[in-house]
Amino acid sequence: MAKNDRANFGSKLGVILASAGSAVGLGNIWRFPYETGNHGGAAFILVYLGCVLFLGIPIMIAEFSIGRHSRANTARAYQILAPGTPWRWVGRMGVLAGFLILGYYSVVAGWTLEFICEAATNSFAGKSATEFISSFNGFVANPWRPVLWMIAFMLATHLIIVKGVEKGIERSAKVMMPALFILLIILAICAVSLPGAGAGIEFLLKPDFSKVDGNVLLGAMGQAFFSLSLGMGCLCTYASYFRNDTNLPRTALNVGFIDTMVAILAGFIIFPAAFSVGIEPDAGPSLLFITLPNVFQQAFGSLPWLAVLLSVMFYVLLALAALTSTISLHEVVTAYLHEEFNLSRSKAARLVTLGCTILGIFSSLSLGVGKEYTLFGMTLFDFFDFLTAKIMLPLGGLFIAVFTGWFLDKQIVWEEMSNRGTLKLPLYKAIIFILKFVAPVAIGFIFVNELGII
Ligand code: TRP
Repeated sequence: MAKNDRANFGSKLGVILASAGSAVGLGNIWRFPYETGNHGGAAFILVYLGCVLFLGIPIMIAEFSIGRHSRANTARAYQILAPGTPWRWVGRMGVLAGFLILGYYSVVAGWTLEFICEAATNSFAGKSATEFISSFNGFVANPWRPVLWMIAFMLATHLIIVKGVEKGIERSAKVMMPALFILLIILAICAVSLPGAGAGIEFLLKPDFSKVDGNVLLGAMGQAFFSLSLGMGCLCTYASYFRNDTNLPRTALNVGFIDTMVAILAGFIIFPAAFSVGIEPDAGPSLLFITLPNVFQQAFGSLPWLAVLLSVMFYVLLALAALTSTISLHEVVTAYLHEEFNLSRSKAARLVTLGCTILGIFSSLSLGVGKEYTLFGMTLFDFFDFLTAKIMLPLGGLFIAVFTGWFLDKQIVWEEMSNRGTLKLPLYKAIIFILKFVAPVAIGFIFVNELGII
């Protein structure tokens, strides 16, 4: 196999950590716990595991195959594999989705920086439950602070992107991902050893199957896509930097495993802690920014230094997880502009950073001074979230499965998955079956249901 002059990840570990870095993010630590809480705990987790294994991993293998075979940004990838067909619009939609996701994800990522500062200056101390709510709401609606933090976060992302694939993305993931695991494990041990944590552990481990309904099923599938970074060519772009000897199915299994472990560990931090201080698990999206600081105070209030240390650690963890994800979103758009419009990489990156910052300013302001300006009855922030997570990602995932299962030459699919026949691939037929039939039907079902058509 000829080596090409395109950028490549330098090592197998780098490939896994960078891809896992994309997958592990606010989706695992912020969204997964509140979805689990809203959907009744252990039973939701079991359904989620099924979705990761039977839908997420096969689609991830498909994205990897498309990306590595074409060795191009996700828009060009479809032009190379299916020249002159409308499939190129799937890639272009992915680039647009990446741009839009970054435009609101960076706002929440910025909040993590504010919370690191608040935790470090011990400003959670002595607040009552209502004060936690009003200070969070006041912060989010402030026209300056969240905007400045969002810009800081975009700049951090930019600095890593301009360093390139191996020196920027890969090297930063090799530092940040292990740091994240260590922080997660320390925090989980602290949380499960709190008095009264048992109820939280039971909530996570004892499934109540009477709670599984269509809604749980759909929530779990949507969460799996978002959390695994699927449906918009993010992992397809990363795979275009994989080496020819990278084992695609095994990498997908590893990434799926790491992503799931982080989500579950996040659950083992948040629920035992919340139950131990008597907070309900279904607090929703505010669980992480209102409930959790309150938990740290109540649980460790008598040892203020420990409360400060653990809460700083937690928000640093969240910021690191978010950063490796914003990098992957940024890279999708940067690679596209760089390769399609003949811009230098740094110029392309500057344009993406500028564009996303502008979008981020609008989405941040839409939670405060711009509340009245709505689109389809949603603030701009909620609209970007809805449009991407609920429409563009399921649609993208559906097209990726159909493209790989039905249109792409099976010789290409087989060569990529088996590294030209050098790997044993006992599950090849099962993966193709899922891509052809199971995934399109299942995703079609979420898509239609989320739009309220049935
Ligand atoms: N998966 C990341 C998380 O869990 C977010 C993310 C990064 C993403 N790249 C993506 C989501 C592509 C959807 C598509 O936070």
